Amino acid sequence: MLAGISHDLRTPLTRLKLGLSMIEHEDIPDLLRDVDAMSRMVDGFLDFARSEAEDRVEPTALGPLVAEVVETFRRQGHDVEHPAPDDPEGPLLDLRPLAIRRALENLLANACTYGRHVRVTLSFGEKAVRITVEDDGPGIPPERREEAIRPFVRLDDARNQDRAGVGLGLAIVADIARVHGGALRLGESGMGGLRADIVLAR
Ligand SMILES: Nc1ncnc2c1ncn2[C@@H]1O[C@H](COP(=O)(O)OP(=O)(O)OP(=O)(O)O)[C@@H](O)[C@H]1O
Ligand SMILES: [Mg+2]
Repeated sequence: MLAGISHDLRTPLTRLKLGLSMIEHEDIPDLLRDVDAMSRMVDGFLDFARSEAEDRVEPTALGPLVAEVVETFRRQGHDVEHPAPDDPEGPLLDLRPLAIRRALENLLANACTYGRHVRVTLSFGEKAVRITVEDDGPGIPPERREEAIRPFVRLDDARNQDRAGVGLGLAIVADIARVHGGALRLGESGMGGLRADIVLAR
């Protein structure tokens, strides 16, 4: 349903944008920015809905998956530390690999935006598996962590304004964790910034 609605919203939004661009008025640039923001939200929803639909549960080795995602961020020039887990492959877990990849990408995108040094750790406990992403940025104060996870919430507009995000990243991570019977936990990293854990039951 979400995918359908998002898709249907695209055409009128494009028309609205076109119409606005032909009008001369001092308020037009602001309105165009609003329409742009709406388009980005719709694209975000569509993206998400699509990847969900294609993704099947399959036995997945988290070790290589995490290492691969870390590598793509390194190639983009980010400083991402990734200590090798005790067991490099880890057990095969029944997961939706695309969704988990996306969740990790979202956390890494945030960490690389707000911090300079980032660390990704994978640990296999007896009952749970934990993917941890930490950075040395400003972090999120405890009383705002719940709020930050809500869809379309972007904290601190001042430092955020010039960035293209729509505030869906953490909401999507939390959703993916939940679908796997797990949770997203936000805390404080020893590195000084945010610590985000995706905890999955095994
Ligand atoms: N690692 C982090 N350090 C500090 N603040 C963070 C971090 N990750 C997220 N935040 C704060 O939480 C808000 C919500 O994050 P979220 O990923 O949901 O949205 P976004 O990154 O702004 O946009 P999107 O992910 O949709 O591109 C961010 O706008 C930011 O204020
Ligand atoms: Mg984000």
